[in-house]
Amino acid sequence: MERMSDARGLVVGNWKMNLDFVEAVHLIQQIGVVLRHQPVGHTDVVVAPPFVDLRSVSSVLEADRVPVTMAAQHVNAYDAGAHTGEISLAQLTRLGVTQVIVGHSERRTLYAMSDDVVRATLLTVVRGGLRAILCVGEDLEVRNAMEHDAFVAGQLRHALEPLTPVQRSLVTIAYEPRWAIGTGRSATSDEVRAISAHVRLVATELGMEGAPLLYGGSVSPENAAELIGQGVNGFLVGGASLKADSFLAIVRAVDDCYAELR
Ligand code: 13P
Repeated sequence: MERMSDARGLVVGNWKMNLDFVEAVHLIQQIGVVLRHQPVGHTDVVVAPPFVDLRSVSSVLEADRVPVTMAAQHVNAYDAGAHTGEISLAQLTRLGVTQVIVGHSERRTLYAMSDDVVRATLLTVVRGGLRAILCVGEDLEVRNAMEHDAFVAGQLRHALEPLTPVQRSLVTIAYEPRWAIGTGRSATSDEVRAISAHVRLVATELGMEGAPLLYGGSVSPENAAELIGQGVNGFLVGGASLKADSFLAIVRAVDDCYAELR
């Protein structure tokens, strides 16, 4: 494995449009109790609750000193103003959000988020000094045509080219093939290994050698231990992040892998 011994794992739970603020508090308290009593030493844990849950979740993180940080699932590219229904980076920062997911495939496909809007949003996040989790990934048609490498490279270059080297250092890349999201059909180990190598090549061309790389798409406690050995630094987890048990089992699998590298 090419990782350095001081490298850390990363697991991000994307709660999507699930859990009201009462349910969110319950889940983060459960996660907090376990992580405080059995801390993970080599893995950063992040949750991305819906906007309306952020304030409640941050209160629990602070009050219970839970070793978890908060990401937002999306942000508007503009700073402020007449954008009814949207949320700005300044508003998220004020709530204690330190990372933002940018260009999730559900935003791209269901809400027409174009490559240009992804790029503008990414720039807004890193200009504001927050970390961005840039999502890329192909649909089944592209995968079946064996064009996924070129497709993903195109998404990465388009989003990352305008950024300065310092801004690029704030980016985590998340490869999430659309056909694996919420389907129960994760990419295979071979597929994850191959695309990881490819993404790292493109990242290196962009001066982002060693950028954190996540895999997302039907990650579960059953496949996490195997997938973490395939060149990624961790996972972006959807469905399995909604229950403390399954989320923490994935965190533990990543942490065990990093502990072994010491
Ligand atoms: P699932 O883990 O439910 O497939 O979702 C993955 C995802 O989209 C995380 O952002």
